[in-house]
Amino acid sequence: MIKKGCLDIVQAKCENCMDCALGATRHNVVFSDGNPETAKIVLIGEAPGETEDETGTPFVGRAGKLLNQFLEEAGISRQDDLYIINTVKCRPPENRVPTDVEKSMCEKYLTAQIDIMNPQAIIFCGATALKSFRNEKKIQISKVRGQWFDVEVNGKSYRAMAIFHPSYLLRNHSMEDGSPRRLMQQDLAEIKSSILGNSSSNPFDKEMAFV
Ligand code: URA
Repeated sequence: MIKKGCLDIVQAKCENCMDCALGATRHNVVFSDGNPETAKIVLIGEAPGETEDETGTPFVGRAGKLLNQFLEEAGISRQDDLYIINTVKCRPPENRVPTDVEKSMCEKYLTAQIDIMNPQAIIFCGATALKSFRNEKKIQISKVRGQWFDVEVNGKSYRAMAIFHPSYLLRNHSMEDGSPRRLMQQDLAEIKSSILGNSSSNPFDKEMAFV
């Protein structure tokens, strides 16, 4: 319970945060999901959407449900293997991309979560999360996804990978070789085998009815 206790302290601060304008419009701070004591991987998304704002839990709307399907297919347990967080903890109005001010005001919570978790790997889910840690202006998820790189957070280096955001996959249904959904399957299989061990059956053998 050591990590959970430290994270609870950060969460209590975050829940009272009014450091940017999003504090005035949120219904709930969306702090995290998953078991911090068992998770080896921190997965970072962009920001809460409407369902997340209503429930206080990240990735529970349409995109989250699709993410769940991919995770399940890859044999990655959302509850035990991942600690899921967002770059920004409060919902931006109309689901717009968070501003630089909103991201910088939230950075202290994000880096504290990573510090406390000390994960074996960080997964950046989509461009907003990736760009918070790699500030090459023109970096594209489609060019860097699926490749391991090192990222430094508060002076500590972590293994990291970027993957597509599930919202992008909701708009791209193809399961052809090389399609975004196929690449997502490949990337999660690589994460599973490199970080969690390859105990489950080959995900490519299974037929999944994706939404
Ligand atoms: N998209 C995100 O990036 N995070 C969520 O929590 C939900 C949707």
